[in-house]
Amino acid sequence: MNFRNHFLCLLVITTPLLSGLISQVEGLNFNFSHFPESSKNELILTPDAEIDFDAIQVTKEARGASITNLSGRVWYKQKLRIRSKQKNITASFNSTFVLNITPQTNPGGEGLAFILSKETGYIPENSHGEWLGIVNSSTNGSSQSNIFAVEFDTKKSYAEDIDDNHVGIDLNSIYSIKQVSLYDHGVNVSSGSDVTTSIQYDGESKVLTVYVFMTSGGGGNQANPILTMPLDLSNHLPEDVFVGFSASTGESTQLNCIKSWNFTSTVVDDDAVDLLWVWILIPVTLAAVVIGFSFYFKWNNKRREVEAQDEDQKVEIKIMSSTTAPKKFRLKELKQATGNFNSKNKLGRGGCGTVYKGLLDNTEVAVKRFFENSSEGRQDFVAEVTTIGNLHHKNLVKLVGWCHESNELLLVYELMPNGSLDKLIFPEENANPEDGIMLSWETRHGIICGVAGALDYLHNGCEKRVLHRDIKASNIMLDSEFNARLGDFGLARTIPNSDMTHHSTKKIAGTLGYMAPESFHIGRATAETDIYAFGVLLLEVSCGRKPGYQSDENNYSNGIVDWVWELHKLERILEVMDMRLSGNFDRDQAESVLKLGLACCHPNPYQRPSMRTALQVFTGEVAPPPIPNEKPAFVWPAMAPITDD
Ligand SMILES: *[C@@H]1O[C@H](CO)[C@@H](O)[C@H](O)[C@H]1NC(C)=O
Ligand SMILES: *[C@@H]1O[C@H](CO)[C@@H](O)[C@H](O)[C@H]1NC(C)=O
Ligand SMILES: *[C@@H]1O[C@H](CO)[C@@H](O)[C@H](O)[C@H]1NC(C)=O
Ligand SMILES: *[C@@H]1O[C@H](CO)[C@@H](O)[C@H](O)[C@H]1NC(C)=O
Ligand SMILES: *[C@@H]1O[C@H](CO)[C@@H](O)[C@H](O)[C@H]1NC(C)=O
Ligand SMILES: *[C@@H]1O[C@H](CO)[C@@H](O)[C@H](O)[C@H]1NC(C)=O
Ligand SMILES: *[C@@H]1O[C@H](CO)[C@@H](O)[C@H](O)[C@H]1NC(C)=O
Ligand SMILES: *[C@@H]1O[C@H](CO)[C@@H](O)[C@H](O)[C@H]1NC(C)=O
Repeated sequence: MNFRNHFLCLLVITTPLLSGLISQVEGLNFNFSHFPESSKNELILTPDAEIDFDAIQVTKEARGASITNLSGRVWYKQKLRIRSKQKNITASFNSTFVLNITPQTNPGGEGLAFILSKETGYIPENSHGEWLGIVNSSTNGSSQSNIFAVEFDTKKSYAEDIDDNHVGIDLNSIYSIKQVSLYDHGVNVSSGSDVTTSIQYDGESKVLTVYVFMTSGGGGNQANPILTMPLDLSNHLPEDVFVGFSASTGESTQLNCIKSWNFTSTVVDDDAVDLLWVWILIPVTLAAVVIGFSFYFKWNNKRREVEAQDEDQKVEIKIMSSTTAPKKFRLKELKQATGNFNSKNKLGRGGCGTVYKGLLDNTEVAVKRFFENSSEGRQDFVAEVTTIGNLHHKNLVKLVGWCHESNELLLVYELMPNGSLDKLIFPEENANPEDGIMLSWETRHGIICGVAGALDYLHNGCEKRVLHRDIKASNIMLDSEFNARLGDFGLARTIPNSDMTHHSTKKIAGTLGYMAPESFHIGRATAETDIYAFGVLLLEVSCGRKPGYQSDENNYSNGIVDWVWELHKLERILEVMDMRLSGNFDRDQAESVLKLGLACCHPNPYQRPSMRTALQVFTGEVAPPPIPNEKPAFVWPAMAPITDD
């Protein structure tokens, strides 16, 4: 949820609070001059009641159906606070309505009542007939009924009923505490003519007054009430009541209509006091809202800080939530696997950590232990887990798991039984040539093909372009069948594919001898610097020589690139091939690899082929790019070729 939503949420909560207070100050007020369909929205009706003919049919119209034994109720939707919660104060109200009762049998039955009840939507079962919808035989007389009624009884049903045309005052009972015959006032309530009734209750003097007269003249008098009596409603009703009507039919039937209705009431509490409360509560509520917001924002800011701190943990969560994710190991497990990082198990030392051999579940693994848990170390660690962990290629070393515990950063890889490529192509100076394995040309070709495939995948094949940034023989591992597995992603960085035009990363890194000449100028890695390093790798695997600047015969002193280029110029390029191969290699294939190597090491980064093209050279789809006889001079800034490809 954003700020706006929170604010709206608070408004939604506070508005009814405030409007509730205000409406209480105003009291209950309404005025229906008639009852169109839309008035249903302001009324609540039980099933036997309906709105029809612009009037409330408290018991419904026949319309062909039986209307015997009906009982219905109708209420205005909003409640009336009839007595104060705290104080001994009762509300006053005035309500005037026009009723119309038309008998459907001779005589008609049973009656209609104005009611104040505790709840809406409820009518007792079997309250038809003589019960007028007010009570039933079991709720009659129970204080639980919570109902006050001014009944217009049109049928003499009980011995107590004075006649079939009277007004009665009922409290929780069909037994009327007071009855007044309307005949005495010249009113025939079931004559089918409109009858106006006005009910006035004075909550202060606790007096009820009822006026009943024929609406369009005749019996009754607007000035003389038919009934005036003391009555303390607050003794018989809950604090909040709903105002409305009830009516019933029995074996005898009639139409019980209300054609218009108005209502007004006072509030139970002293207006000034109540207004004071509102004027206190509005600022208090607003202040609470403001304070709430400032706390919310503080909390939110704090949360953001905590979130930033938890970034590492989030990386863990991210890593772990991926289905193909490497496993998270316990430090204890890895200590056990490597003999507590015993130096006897040391396999080598990389740019950012030492690699140990280990045994996990009877499977040999390589465990890389990062030098330090510095922020830079963590960055490399996370880079490696997040990049390699999400990459899947047969020529990439598989990351089995990781561990970040007690200041230790550890990565677990598959152990490559044949170690790294450098050990096999650069024989130890004082090693016996008979010792160890001599890689055949076919094997070497297979290895560089694999590396080309892996690099093409990193550059062009995955969702985000990945720069390896440290391609070299010692980072290429060999599995049991001498297939290449590109490893050590400590320096790797992902580049969003949308940013392909500027596929580069900050921070100069890599290994001398494999670094493109422009690296020192641009100070960052690019896809082209990866390709340069790949070119160097092609040359060293073919020549069986290290790329570095070492004083040697045959102009080697300027490095492997210059040396191979020189022999290319002399059209004696195959002379660079590793002597130990004893000429056992496919000459065309070897020449193609060497030329591709030189093309990848072109001093102008724009002239280097892409990894995709390089791979196509291996598969024989395209010929190696043409190479100038003379190695072009390195010019900076480099010029893009005029003819675009
Ligand atoms: C009630 O409504 C009728 C018709 O809309 C109007 O004529 C009458 O003045 C209203 N009465 C009050 C008290 O507002
Ligand atoms: C109406 O109700 C009375 C009892 O309240 C019952 O005796 C009578 O059978 C009912 N009539 C109909 C038509 O349901
Ligand atoms: C409430 O006030 C009336 C007078 O208006 C008094 O007769 C009655 O005893 C009071 N009730 C209580 C509970 O104080
Ligand atoms: C009810 O009507 C009487 C008489 O007109 C009036 O004095 C009284 O203030 C009214 N009460 C309310 C709540 O409107
Ligand atoms: C009276 O109404 C109540 C509530 O609807 C109901 O539980 C009870 O059974 C009714 N009594 C009779 C006799 O129908
Ligand atoms: C209804 O209850 C009153 C007591 O509140 C009692 O006097 C009266 O006889 C009862 N009426 C019937 C019909 O049971
Ligand atoms: C009241 O009106 C009805 C319907 O017009 C009529 O049947 C009945 O006799 C009248 N009652 C008296 C007492 O006039
Ligand atoms: C209700 O309507 C009657 C008749 O139209 C009118 O005299 C009375 O003032 C009205 N009362 C209220 C509270 O609207």
